[in-house]
Amino acid sequence: MVTLIQRLAAMSDPSQMSASSAGQPIPKRLVPPHIEALKPYQPGRPPEQLKKELGIDKFINLASNENPLGPPESALKAIHETLLDMNRYPEMGGMKLRTALAERYNVKVENVALGSGSESTMANIVRAFLHGDDEVLTSQGTFIGLYVLVRAQGVKLNMVPLKNYAFDLDAIAAAINERTKIIYLCNPNNPTGTIITRNQFDDFIKKVPEHVLVILDEAYYEFSGDNPAFPDSMSYRLDNVLTLRTFSKAYAMAGIRLGYGLGHEYLIDFVNRIKLPFEPNCLAQAAGLAALADDDFLSRTLVNNKVGMQLITQELDRLGLMRVPSHGNFILVEMDTAERVAQLHEGLLRHGVAIRPLTAFGLPTCIRITIGKPEENEQLIKGLRAVVATMA
Ligand SMILES: Cc1ncc(COP(=O)(O)O)c(C=O)c1O
Repeated sequence: MVTLIQRLAAMSDPSQMSASSAGQPIPKRLVPPHIEALKPYQPGRPPEQLKKELGIDKFINLASNENPLGPPESALKAIHETLLDMNRYPEMGGMKLRTALAERYNVKVENVALGSGSESTMANIVRAFLHGDDEVLTSQGTFIGLYVLVRAQGVKLNMVPLKNYAFDLDAIAAAINERTKIIYLCNPNNPTGTIITRNQFDDFIKKVPEHVLVILDEAYYEFSGDNPAFPDSMSYRLDNVLTLRTFSKAYAMAGIRLGYGLGHEYLIDFVNRIKLPFEPNCLAQAAGLAALADDDFLSRTLVNNKVGMQLITQELDRLGLMRVPSHGNFILVEMDTAERVAQLHEGLLRHGVAIRPLTAFGLPTCIRITIGKPEENEQLIKGLRAVVATMA
């Protein structure tokens, strides 16, 4: 028997449409074309399966730009104290955390939107502002989450190529057209680790019409904020700029999903109208409030990153691997071919180290390595030495 799902799914194949519609009312297509065109997420092999396959009992994950130090004690304590409230919905406006963030950035609560991860806030921005023939303009080789959200919204995504692994702001400015609604910039950029400098941003923003929104994704802000060349978007207070930041990286809370957007209250109001009512969950909000005040954890994170970055870059240079100077908590390495990327990836897996090949980012000859804890970096270096020696 043909089920309803099979009948509706068949409608997406135009060759089936006339046959199945003979004499019958045509059912509506089940999945809109822009959703059908989305590629399904390709998960890597689960760690347990990999361990079995490769005969390894421990893996270190240097593939996802997470903070290797583990969650802040302060956040864990706050979570424990909040557990008994788990039967209650969180306070609707997330006022405590929004107030703390507003104080941190010297803005009003109305300038802050929370999300279950900054990607959730990005999704809310996409849903709040994009429709019809609006277009989004960005670069190739940046955060793929943006590409997925824009395509899922059914609007056109225009991309210019990277230039020297960085956003080519001249090309982006030249590609603005009358349908451009949002420009997405990622600073520092994931996965290349490059930054848009203050001078470059100052020059670029003059060319952006006021009605075009600029999303400045600063997920890795804390790793670059003290660099005088870095244009901290919050120091500009531009009405058409929405800043995204997160607790997932420097604050080591990726698993609990907590991020936020900052911007003009007129825009943030709509982002908050779109947001699912009780996001983020109560544990995430409590943990975020505690972590935000935990300067000690943040400075330990930054020191660990700086030391690890230095060690790994030195080793990459010694091994003659081509790397891009990074302003985040990760390093991009370019190999000669995609085959060599696969060799390095598989080889490191055998040494118990997971890194990220970047084919999905449109960079098939590149890999990205996240900075780990000292002992993880040592394991990576051992693995790199061994694998590179077999690749000569
Ligand atoms: C540039 C960038 N933006 C956003 C995110 C998503 O962060 P979150 O965990 O806050 O959703 C990531 C995560 O890797 C990222 O690299």
